[in-house]
Amino acid sequence: MDKVLIIGASGHAKVIIETIELNANYQIHGLIDTFKPKGEKLLGYEILGTEDYIQNLVEKGINKGIIAIGDNWTRFLMQERIKKISPDFEFVTVIHPSAIISPSAIIGKGSIILASVTINAHARIGDFCIMNTDANFDHDSDIQDFSSLAPGVTVGGNVSIGTCTAISLGANIIQGITIGKHSIIGAGSLLLNDVGDFKLVYGVPGKEIRTVVKGENYLSKS
Ligand SMILES: CC(C)(COP(=O)(O)OP(=O)(O)OC[C@H]1O[C@@H](n2cnc3c(N)ncnc32)[C@H](O)[C@@H]1OP(=O)(O)O)[C@@H](O)C(=O)NCCC(=O)NCCS
Repeated sequence: MDKVLIIGASGHAKVIIETIELNANYQIHGLIDTFKPKGEKLLGYEILGTEDYIQNLVEKGINKGIIAIGDNWTRFLMQERIKKISPDFEFVTVIHPSAIISPSAIIGKGSIILASVTINAHARIGDFCIMNTDANFDHDSDIQDFSSLAPGVTVGGNVSIGTCTAISLGANIIQGITIGKHSIIGAGSLLLNDVGDFKLVYGVPGKEIRTVVKGENYLSKS
């Protein structure tokens, strides 16, 4: 069994650890975290150091892992950093065994598909995306790198979602909608119209509230 590193040691990391344990296709070697002290444990796995330690591990043959960071922009920055420190590091895809995934769907590297997610025919999930618990992603829809669906989101068919965009808890997106990059769709929204880049939209029906800046925190209350 290949050994993997979990990069990030938050609540989202716990969900990913348990998913990997259920799959039993990778052995978790340990965690990497920028802020938490080396030696601290999460679900029995030790924090081995910061991302600067990854190259030492790669030299010992531990060259695979997953970025377990829920915030889209922070996950992007971590991936950029790892690419620089250790260009040969490989990112694995983690899929919960209860997810229902069409054989014609495409899922990119470093992406995470959690429990009870459904991904329908010809859907495309980019790299480093999160499809969180119970999200539904319908046929021919496309979500680009570093974007996320929070738990309970429903996305209709032929929807296009740009990079680094967050669709928050329980939002519903009707079919055929285009959502730009770096946008945030608030929890519980019902989206009936297209959304541009760098927009905060929420409500039923969803209304544009304001412009957001790149990397704006949408998970601060977590
Ligand atoms: C979009 C979001 C980031 C907005 O948060 P915020 O900017 O901190 O907003 P605030 O809490 O300061 O609220 C400001 C106002 O907007 C309203 N509001 C905020 N989010 C709203 C939403 N999703 N729908 C409707 N109204 C909302 C508040 O009620 C408040 O109204 P008021 O001024 O009349 O009291 C937040 O609603 C959200 O969806 N967070 C992500 C949750 C999520 O998906 N977590 C993932 C867990 S895995």
